[in-house]
Amino acid sequence: MNILVTGGAGYIGSHIIELLVKKKTNKVIVLDNLSTGNKILINQKSKFFKGDINNKKIINRLINKFNIDTIIHLAASLNVSEAQTNKKKYYKNNITGTKILLMSCRNTTVENIIFSSSCSIYGNIKGSVNERKKPNPQGYYAYTKYKGEQLIKKYASKFNYNFGILRYFNVAGASPSGKIGEIETSHGHLIKNFAIQSMKEKPKLNIYGNNYNTKDGTCVRDYIHVSDLADIHIKGIDYLKENKKSFTLNCGYGKGYSVLQIANKFKKIKKNTQINFMKRRPGDIAQVYSNTKEFKKLLKWKPKHNDINKIIKSAINWEKKLKTNFYRNF
Ligand SMILES: NC(=O)c1ccc[n+]([C@@H]2O[C@H](COP(=O)([O-])OP(=O)(O)OC[C@H]3O[C@@H](n4cnc5c(N)ncnc54)[C@H](O)[C@@H]3O)[C@@H](O)[C@H]2O)c1
Repeated sequence: MNILVTGGAGYIGSHIIELLVKKKTNKVIVLDNLSTGNKILINQKSKFFKGDINNKKIINRLINKFNIDTIIHLAASLNVSEAQTNKKKYYKNNITGTKILLMSCRNTTVENIIFSSSCSIYGNIKGSVNERKKPNPQGYYAYTKYKGEQLIKKYASKFNYNFGILRYFNVAGASPSGKIGEIETSHGHLIKNFAIQSMKEKPKLNIYGNNYNTKDGTCVRDYIHVSDLADIHIKGIDYLKENKKSFTLNCGYGKGYSVLQIANKFKKIKKNTQINFMKRRPGDIAQVYSNTKEFKKLLKWKPKHNDINKIIKSAINWEKKLKTNFYRNF
């Protein structure tokens, strides 16, 4: 297969590529503008092109030159608070960029598109959520992801491709290979932030809000290991190839952990960790986790890394690695 991965120099993209290149029959092309991605994460067995998804020419060139049959579209901006204050940037990158990418598939060899969506498109929900729940995006980032989904669906029959929309829950951890993990610090991901703190002499873990209507008052989320999420993409491509049928799926384990539970796990690893309760942050929802019924039925997939302790350990090990001289220069 000839696969184009947009945003492949990023956290999730690099883990997908790590799996894709294992199959020798896959040719993997990466398009990334390196705005938050990093060259060091790009697997040497893939072909990297620095460029922007807003540049129709470069996309067309890559699709035609490499006879691309499948696109995995991850390139996006994803800082939830930045999206609120810089809507223009998010409109251009996440909505216009997606549209340009799709327009570039017209009359080409592209048959399948996998799109990175987010559980944030559901808006304020309580507990478990399935794919049939009507999206109700609250923040601007979530809105751009929802718009992206609509564009993917809108052009599917016109441009003759099938799609897989994957709504990620909270992605965390790092590859068991030890070679890749999350480098960018601006996205505000909880386990990444806590892992950074755990490198310090006196770690301080801030918890925003402890008076939510949840088991211990702190927010509850569904954390999925990045390598399992990457594997879902491989399964998703296989499904599209075999069944020629589009799908929309939640990607989570279906189990919620509270922020306090996660913080306590870090404290157990480093005893002098201090846990601070701060004021609630505007826009945080109390509790969300995935209903995995549809997902299990369709992909018949089983997770390999669904152990929160392992997820946390892999995130900490990655952070240690980032501190070594080799990674410091990147
Ligand atoms: N990390 C999560 O928990 C999470 C949750 C839900 C959805 N997502 C989605 O997953 C995707 C990947 O996220 P990630 O966590 O790997 O973030 P990331 O920032 O590590 O990866 C995004 C990549 O896209 C690239 N990029 C951004 N804009 C681009 C453009 N205009 N042209 C070309 N490349 C561009 C960046 O340089 C980066 O390499 C995003 O679409 C994001 O919305 C992530």
